[in-house]
Amino acid sequence: MEGKVHVLDHPLLQHKLTILRNKDTGVKEFREIVSEIAMLECYEATRDLPLEDVEVETPIAAGTFKALAGKKLAIVPILRAGLGMVDGILNLIPSAKVGHIGLYRDPETHLPVEYYCKMPPDIAERDVIVLDPMLATGGSASAAITFIKGYGCRHIKLMNIIAAPEGIACIQKDHPDVDVYVAAVDEKLNDHAYIVPGLGDAGDRIFGTK
Ligand code: PRP
Ligand code: URA
Repeated sequence: MEGKVHVLDHPLLQHKLTILRNKDTGVKEFREIVSEIAMLECYEATRDLPLEDVEVETPIAAGTFKALAGKKLAIVPILRAGLGMVDGILNLIPSAKVGHIGLYRDPETHLPVEYYCKMPPDIAERDVIVLDPMLATGGSASAAITFIKGYGCRHIKLMNIIAAPEGIACIQKDHPDVDVYVAAVDEKLNDHAYIVPGLGDAGDRIFGTK
């Protein structure tokens, strides 16, 4: 069975995404909004976190209430652009560990080239959310997930901001066990494997490198 694709169409997310798409949005605002969108998406992507009962005394009465059952999480941004989503997630889950995987797309072949990897030592015991704003051909995210599975991780989710149908098909084929969380699924890829209409080059817009 294929992984589920969760298209998060909350009005706040859609409004913020439209600001990202605008070519006139500057680097400061772009960076802030990538982080905010990641935080809002994280709210949905963690909806299935297990809870346990805890005893607490309020100023009025004692009671049994819910608290997170201490599930261990890790987030893994795909460098560079995934870095822009890290702070937003850590705002909600400050105790998450952070692994890093460096991949770039070869401009000719559009295939991912790995250049860096550093994971928390106990990554195999953690649920992992892989972060990358753009899921275009899906090559980078699929390679990153394969790599992370190589450490023994079995519970992996992928969080993007914009996906192309081609990228979603790639993840569903290569990793049918992985659910995808995304704020929009756009129309298609262009001849350079950029998402149309998309938002341009996410890494360049986050880091101001173009
Ligand atoms: C972008 C983006 C993804 C990848 C998506 O990264 O952040 O990692 O392309 O494309 P794909 O789905 O076709 O693999 P890029 O290679 O431009 O590197 P950068 O983040 O360093 O800018
Ligand atoms: N990488 C990006 O940053 N943008 C795209 O549209 C495709 C790949």
